[in-house]
Amino acid sequence: VPLPEEIRTQAREIVARYPAGRSRSALLPMLHLVQSEQGYVSAEGVTLCAEELGLTKAEVGAVATFYTMYKRKPAGEYLVSVCTNLSCQILGGDEVFARLSDHLDIGHNETTADGSITLEHAECLAACDFAPVVTVNYEFYDNATPDSAVGLVRELQSGGRPEPTRGAPLCTFKEIERQLAGFVDPRPSAVRTGRSHPDAPAPVDSRGTVTLTEQNAPKANAEGATGEYAVPGAEPERTLSNEKAADTWAEGGAADAGASPSTPAAEPAAQARKPRSSKRKDA
Ligand code: FES
Repeated sequence: VPLPEEIRTQAREIVARYPAGRSRSALLPMLHLVQSEQGYVSAEGVTLCAEELGLTKAEVGAVATFYTMYKRKPAGEYLVSVCTNLSCQILGGDEVFARLSDHLDIGHNETTADGSITLEHAECLAACDFAPVVTVNYEFYDNATPDSAVGLVRELQSGGRPEPTRGAPLCTFKEIERQLAGFVDPRPSAVRTGRSHPDAPAPVDSRGTVTLTEQNAPKANAEGATGEYAVPGAEPERTLSNEKAADTWAEGGAADAGASPSTPAAEPAAQARKPRSSKRKDA
């Protein structure tokens, strides 16, 4: 399917989001935009990006082939990614992949004949706590088993949209690619619910800011400690609204302040606060 002219118009909208002289930064969302139309980065899409950004096709191709989120062949309606990195592998990720591969009769980076499912091995999906992890179009299905994964793809192939463990509802590959290009998903159901995994640590927003609540506050800081703070290492800004808590954390965290970081509610927040470079040697 050739790229419609409106894709070029939308590509220019993406370029306009960036400061003058930085237009090449628009390449990543533009490649997602191409995938939202064709399901992969076609030669035509590479040409369009190169023309709009004043790059060579080789430069665009180098980017498109570096990142695994850009596909060289049309992806299926649902991209099923099975994490087979260490945490997931230890807990059965390879078995999940093998069962799916057998069930679907496809291997890594292959798509079922009906175009419904593309299967891939994935590197760490940043959800090791919930290993083994499967994502469908980048939405999480935690604590997968071979049986649950087969049930998941069966439901997808029969037209269902199984609810992810957390986050936004599932959509098609082309729909999620449009969102990754920075365009609003018009589906009413696409509004993020803020629902999170029951065992998940405190939510972190796009600034790297964690909202601290009574539930996730460590005991040592529980007294009036409700507020916001930036995760160390997730700069640019520290937005702690409670100075007393800031001092405690700067000194080396709740453990040094006599807290009980081993309590289930305190532990995730305590780990998130651990300074990346500290004068104190933990070992
Ligand atoms: S190793 Fe699988 S999510 Fe990290």
